[in-house]
Amino acid sequence: MKSLNHIIGSSFILFAAYLISNSQAVHIRKRANESNVLKYVDPLIGSNSGGNVFAGATLPYGMAKAVADVDGENTGGFSTDGSRITGFSAMHDSGTGGNPSLGNFPIFPQICPGDDINSCKFPIGQRATHYKADSIQARPGYFAIALNNGIEAEMTVSEHAALFRFDFPSGNDSASSPLIMLDLTDLWASRQNASISVEAKAGDTEGRIRGNGTFLPSFGAGSYVLHFCLDVAGGRVKDSGMWVNNRAGTEPKDLFVTRGFNLFYLEAGGFIRFEGPLSGKLNARMGVSFISTNKACRNAEDEIPGPEFDFDVLRKKAEDAWHAKLSPITIEAGAVNESMQTNFWSAVYRTMISPQDYTGENPHWQSSEPYFDSFYCIWDMWRVQLPFLTIIDPVFQTKIVRSLVDIYKHRGWLPDCSMSTTKGWTQGGSNADNVLVDAYVKNLTGIDWELAYKAIVNDAENEPLEWSVEGRGGLMSWKHLNYIPYLDYDYLGFGTNSRSISRTLEYSYNDFCLSTLANGLGKDTATKYLSRAGNWLNLYKSDQKSLINGTDTGFTGFFQPKYMNGTWGYQDPIACSPLASFCSLTSNPSETFESSAWEYMFFVPHDVRRLISLLGGPDTFLRRLDFFHTSGLADIGNEPVFLTVYMPHYAGRPGLSAKRVHSYIPSRFNSSTNGLPGNDDSGAMASFTLFACIGLFPNPGQNVYFIIPPFFESISITSPITNKTATVTNINFDKQYKNIYIQSAILNGKPYSKNWITHEFFTKGWTLELTLGETESDWGTKEEDLPPSMSVGDVENQVAF
Ligand SMILES: *[C@@H]1O[C@H](CO)[C@@H](O)[C@H](O)[C@H]1NC(C)=O
Ligand SMILES: *[C@@H]1O[C@H](CO)[C@@H](O)[C@H](O)[C@H]1NC(C)=O
Ligand SMILES: *[C@@H]1O[C@H](CO)[C@@H](O)[C@H](O)[C@H]1NC(C)=O
Ligand SMILES: *[C@@H]1O[C@H](CO)[C@@H](O)[C@H](O)[C@H]1NC(C)=O
Ligand SMILES: *[C@@H]1O[C@H](CO)[C@@H](O)[C@H](O)[C@H]1NC(C)=O
Ligand SMILES: *[C@@H]1O[C@H](CO)[C@@H](O)[C@H](O)[C@H]1NC(C)=O
Ligand SMILES: *[C@@H]1O[C@H](CO)[C@@H](O)[C@H](O)[C@H]1NC(C)=O
Ligand SMILES: *[C@@H]1O[C@H](CO)[C@@H](O)[C@H](O)[C@H]1NC(C)=O
Ligand SMILES: *[C@@H]1O[C@H](CO)[C@@H](O)[C@H](O)[C@H]1NC(C)=O
Ligand SMILES: *[C@@H]1O[C@H](CO)[C@@H](O)[C@H](O)[C@H]1NC(C)=O
Repeated sequence: MKSLNHIIGSSFILFAAYLISNSQAVHIRKRANESNVLKYVDPLIGSNSGGNVFAGATLPYGMAKAVADVDGENTGGFSTDGSRITGFSAMHDSGTGGNPSLGNFPIFPQICPGDDINSCKFPIGQRATHYKADSIQARPGYFAIALNNGIEAEMTVSEHAALFRFDFPSGNDSASSPLIMLDLTDLWASRQNASISVEAKAGDTEGRIRGNGTFLPSFGAGSYVLHFCLDVAGGRVKDSGMWVNNRAGTEPKDLFVTRGFNLFYLEAGGFIRFEGPLSGKLNARMGVSFISTNKACRNAEDEIPGPEFDFDVLRKKAEDAWHAKLSPITIEAGAVNESMQTNFWSAVYRTMISPQDYTGENPHWQSSEPYFDSFYCIWDMWRVQLPFLTIIDPVFQTKIVRSLVDIYKHRGWLPDCSMSTTKGWTQGGSNADNVLVDAYVKNLTGIDWELAYKAIVNDAENEPLEWSVEGRGGLMSWKHLNYIPYLDYDYLGFGTNSRSISRTLEYSYNDFCLSTLANGLGKDTATKYLSRAGNWLNLYKSDQKSLINGTDTGFTGFFQPKYMNGTWGYQDPIACSPLASFCSLTSNPSETFESSAWEYMFFVPHDVRRLISLLGGPDTFLRRLDFFHTSGLADIGNEPVFLTVYMPHYAGRPGLSAKRVHSYIPSRFNSSTNGLPGNDDSGAMASFTLFACIGLFPNPGQNVYFIIPPFFESISITSPITNKTATVTNINFDKQYKNIYIQSAILNGKPYSKNWITHEFFTKGWTLELTLGETESDWGTKEEDLPPSMSVGDVENQVAF
């Protein structure tokens, strides 16, 4: 604990001196044309091949998310997979895996052949229509697409309402009457029951359909109620009514549908027809709310006032909101091509689709605190997405953290995953702990730290009855055996009794983060939790080998499951890797979650130096890392892999981290519609890309960023709180990325040899100049240059630096 501490301590005194003498940035640069930035955002990146991104119109963190829903890869609503459009809906999640999320109350425009209402196609399988592939326009705050039948759809949004605009082709049977139907369903057909009423009389210039429905969350417990209020305007109402299966009628005007015999799924909804031909477009304003149908109408009326809905004004507002959110960053591209710039800016954009700001829309309790949802899931988001928001949008990240603490206050537990206001399933540790502590070490203000501390201690000490949705399981064993055993005997609470290895590793890091906060707040529990942070060592089996098809990989020592009596169990180290089969909560549940023992071998974020010596020292460790990344064992499409890319920093070879990053970007993370190697998971994959491009990668929960050369000649980020601008500049930059090795660095005008830096870089607006070359140098390689580790450096006291 001592030696590195001393070195770090003294160099920080030197830092302080540089700071005082160097308050001005040394480099005057031409700023990029900021108003051009949105042109580099392509919401279609990751819209097929499993990226599952939400490609439609949304505000930053907005609740309303409008897009065309398809019947193919529709987890996020739309996909460029060539499948058919089934509707246009206003609520979505982004990048999630598993069941399609939300997509409630889709509407759909049609013309009924022969003007006969019963010739319209109401059920989803009948109405599904292909779109014109070249008609897709996806921009921040705007989405447009044309159906093969010639109907064109455009959409934009406010916070809690969407505005759709439909253009019916002229020249069709002029007696025909354009129809807008609404389906009481969601993407997953999870609707349990729903109510609907239609208010639209013949001759009216506007018709309203409103109602509500009870649905199931896509990855969570219980059910949720969502309300809607749809106003359609743009012509004279001809008639309106209900449809059930493939028949429709102008009576009744109210309907309640449920699931009946054998949970039979009844397709039903409402419709409004207009007299054709229309003189212009039909506007459909869809308000949504978790509170009430009246609130859904009020949200729509307040945010998109009528009677004339001004689409263009609303779209401009959405664009301006995105422009403002992206404005803290400027890049000097250095002739790097547009595809790389698009990759970067689109990634920045995708970090602010979810979590979603549901403040004022919480049906469960009243509070003056912010309320955010779609933490889907924190297991994915804590590593890089939320740390990115801490840099670029600390005001919102503070609200997000406050909302987590408020959820603890009212529900008794921090969430691990949440969607549509319900509790999502826990995946591993209580990783909201890490989010809170990351905010603490990065000085976010206005957070009740005493309450945050209580919330984390609650996770660490008290086992909930249902740890499948909150907290941790196996706490009796955790406290007494100091690991989570294979086949634990746990009668305190209930969850999926698997993942003993990955939970042991994640709980260890959770307790490390807790000890950091305890230390910062002067609690006497800091030592206890720091000691529990070492529990990962108890599952290390030093003689465990790993074979692939009978051939020894040559690496010895892996985490293995251990019974309560201390006897080792066995899980093949390559199980759950891409070379074997995927392991989730329900599919092939194993002792490691969504990742192998090979990959989890590297998950000790707080004590990497200890891990390196355990695995035989830097050379062996680097060979193991290299084998991991080149043998097919690494799953670059899922979050646990992220930190492994930067681990050479701890072994004194920062150049190897840079080299590895370039082996994945852009080959696995690029600007194509299939440009993501896995689910974006809100914006987790996005954040992996953009932190690489910035050249500073976080080890969240610690005040540490690893330094590699940015992917652009220069990049600047202005802190929206301090207004100070931090800049990283590459000297000898080449757009072919041959010069990716740092030869020397200058921080605020003085030589800097550490291969990592703290968050003050951003808040205090420091300037880092990196001189690059084609080969590794000795920059950042010495003992005193390495990032802190629990066993060798004073990680605990970083916050006091
Ligand atoms: C910046 O970009 C906008 C949008 O493309 C353009 O209208 C404007 O002229 C540009 N300004 C400069 C100074 O290049
Ligand atoms: C309009 O007419 C064309 C040609 O008959 C047909 O292909 C298309 O489906 C019609 N559009 C609608 C919206 O009915
Ligand atoms: C709708 O379904 C939910 C969930 O099953 C149930 O709690 C509720 O009572 C139902 N509502 C009505 C009006 O039947
Ligand atoms: C849904 O709407 C119906 C009809 O207006 C109403 O009776 C019912 O209470 C609403 N359900 C909920 C959960 O608000
Ligand atoms: C946090 O605030 C303290 C006190 O103002 C300051 O010394 C420290 O540098 C700040 N740390 C960060 C990461 O901004
Ligand atoms: C193992 O052997 C099988 C059968 O020869 C082959 O299909 C598979 O790709 C091999 N796996 C690895 C990881 O080499
Ligand atoms: C420990 O428990 C496991 C599983 O029940 C059993 O197979 C093993 O023999 C036990 N070891 C000892 C030393 O009792
Ligand atoms: C883009 O990324 C995807 C997903 O990782 C990959 O399959 C594809 O080959 C990449 N495309 C290019 C041109 O590198
Ligand atoms: C940063 O700039 C904003 C907008 O100009 C201003 O409101 C705020 O007071 C500034 N903050 C600081 C710390 O200077
Ligand atoms: C853009 O640059 C990247 C990185 O050098 C390269 O891999 C990619 O092929 C280039 N794309 C285009 C369209 O030129």
